[in-house]
Amino acid sequence: MVLMIIMASATKISLQLLDWTPSRMRTVEAEQLITVAAAAVLAGIVMYMANRRIRSKRSGGDLPPGTMGCLPIIGETLEYARPNCSLMPGAFLNHRIQRYGVLFKSHLFGEAIIISTDAKVNQFILQKEGTLFKSSYPRSILNIIGKQNTTEIHGQTHKAVRNAVLNVVGTRIRSDKTFSFISAQILKKMETWGGRIIHLQEEATRLSFNLVINQLLSLSTTEHAAEVDYLFQNFEILVDGLLRVPINLPGMPYRRSMQARSNVIKMIERIISEKRSKPDREISDVLDALLAAEGSTVTREVSIDVMVGVIFAAYETTSSIFTFATKFITDNPRVLEALKEEHSSILNQTACATKVALTWDSYKLMTFTEKVVKETLRLANAGDVVFREAIEDVKVNGYTIPKGWKVMPCFIPTHMDAYKYLDPLSFNPWRWDQEHLGNADFMPFGGGIRQCAGKELAKLEVALFIHHLVTRCRWEQVEEDEVIRSRGAKFKKGLPLYFHECNVSRMGDIDL
Ligand code: HEM
Repeated sequence: MVLMIIMASATKISLQLLDWTPSRMRTVEAEQLITVAAAAVLAGIVMYMANRRIRSKRSGGDLPPGTMGCLPIIGETLEYARPNCSLMPGAFLNHRIQRYGVLFKSHLFGEAIIISTDAKVNQFILQKEGTLFKSSYPRSILNIIGKQNTTEIHGQTHKAVRNAVLNVVGTRIRSDKTFSFISAQILKKMETWGGRIIHLQEEATRLSFNLVINQLLSLSTTEHAAEVDYLFQNFEILVDGLLRVPINLPGMPYRRSMQARSNVIKMIERIISEKRSKPDREISDVLDALLAAEGSTVTREVSIDVMVGVIFAAYETTSSIFTFATKFITDNPRVLEALKEEHSSILNQTACATKVALTWDSYKLMTFTEKVVKETLRLANAGDVVFREAIEDVKVNGYTIPKGWKVMPCFIPTHMDAYKYLDPLSFNPWRWDQEHLGNADFMPFGGGIRQCAGKELAKLEVALFIHHLVTRCRWEQVEEDEVIRSRGAKFKKGLPLYFHECNVSRMGDIDL
């Protein structure tokens, strides 16, 4: 038990280095420094135990090459977590790929781990979910997100939960109501941008939160403004705690994060009680669908953890794609022109040019936009790694991944592979016209039976965001900003943009 706590502490300390975004940038508190020192001392004490633990995990066959780091528990997490000021793979991955090849071992987040940076191996691992591998995320993340969230449930439970999400998100996606709702949320945000400098990263985070909270819980920013604000504030604190020392003492960020998790859960429980008090209600959101699926496999705890996990996974990722798409469009006037052309032509094709409630049919006409979204997903790669565990010894590329070892398929190197993507750092949506890339070369939403259940919704939201951006707004970047790649890609200053105008008066039938 002590070992587990120390492992978790050490992991959080190193993850803290990831925390470079403006909203979350903090000085290291005195308590945390004390914890660092304490963890270092205790880490020495448990070195022997840790080494034994790692050794005991090695079974027959050849492990991939690699190093486990000099520090027990922490292993190589500090090097891995060092922020990289580019969208290209950072020094940690580069050095190891050059030295060991595409498959190598390491020791991250308190656990022995094998990292795969190869497109085909990643695809193989994801496709063998449930037979050779199972989803299994680091304990430090699960303590806050929930031990029964989608990544940790398997078999029938996972199937039932996935169906519940897909049934709602999938069936809703084509409806005019969804198009209207997404557009209204985007325009409500854009309405406040005209004539001022905004930090797009922050605005996009709030926007994507508003969107997902409606799909999952039917909370709207008009009718349930207070609840949405409350959940957003608590989620921001909850996420902040993912990068902190897990000491549950007053004043510590971890305590605040655990408190925020408990606030979120209380709110979800309250919403569940309200829903339960209306027995004949229809299934109108993901929570309804989960409640309907509850039974022997899907328990109330699963429903709640799944809600927390999906809200977190959906809003952080989508907001990053809103932000990077805007940045890439800003930097590439040719792309902006092509987008303007596509979207004004779509507007002209609607019966009345003032009617802007787009439909599934108009979305299908956004063929260039689709490439812009793909190219953004390739470069900004919001879901850059996933975690699995070997169920049995697995032979891969002549090496053995021993049973019980964590495996981390990492997508950045394949998305930036110069052999597959010519001039990989350049934002070139036209590349998707020419290059015939296999599925394995482009996996922004993962793959196999756990492929992102919200991918179509996310792509639609980004396309509609681009539509309103290029048809209504005129903007420029007012200050240089730097990319920081750590947990996903972010902008150091939050991407400050000046919006000369955002013409949201052309609302058509959208009810703001
Ligand atoms: C650009 C935005 C998004 C990206 C890049 C993204 C990425 C991913 C990735 C890589 C996974 C696989 C995780 C794994 O294999 O361990 C995943 C799973 C998932 N995502 Fe997304 N996601 C996005 C948006 C969304 C949205 C908007 C929703 C909301 C409905 C959502 C819901 C889910 C769910 C429920 C899973 C778990 C699927 C399962 O286990 O069967 N995602 N996502």
